[in-house]
Amino acid sequence: MAEAPIKTINLETLKQNSQRDSLYVLISGKVYDATKFLDEHPGGDEVILSEAGKDATEAFEDVGHSDEARDLLKTLYIGDFDGPSIKSSYIHRGEGGDTSGGSPVFYLFPLALFGAILAYRYYLA
Ligand code: HEM
Repeated sequence: MAEAPIKTINLETLKQNSQRDSLYVLISGKVYDATKFLDEHPGGDEVILSEAGKDATEAFEDVGHSDEARDLLKTLYIGDFDGPSIKSSYIHRGEGGDTSGGSPVFYLFPLALFGAILAYRYYLA
């Protein structure tokens, strides 16, 4: 029984198909042709367009898409991604304005302050 070979899509092809008239989306190592789906997407076309040509996994998962959405994905599947893993440049939305990403300094500062207070009290005792 001959199975259809899985088509692989590389980074160049992914980037070449990042326009409204031909739009590929990369989610969890698989590439989906979302061209025809764009206008039907309940979340709007803009969000998908903004993930074109890059790894949309995080954006897709963040929304908490339903099982129906995942079933829909299967119908758009065109092949596996064959390329270097693309680090998602997705910025978490809904956390208010410009989220510059949690710098470790913001976590370390209160810790350091707490340590300093403890040390000070210990020194006074
Ligand atoms: C081609 C891939 C995608 C498919 C098949 C898809 C499918 C769907 C479906 C069926 C819904 C309706 C709610 C549900 O069933 O979960 C939905 C909602 C939504 N999607 Fe997608 N989606 C895709 C990609 C994306 C991407 C990359 C984003 C980027 C952020 C996104 C953002 C959203 C948002 C924000 C909603 C919520 C809309 C609302 O409830 O008002 N989707 N999507």
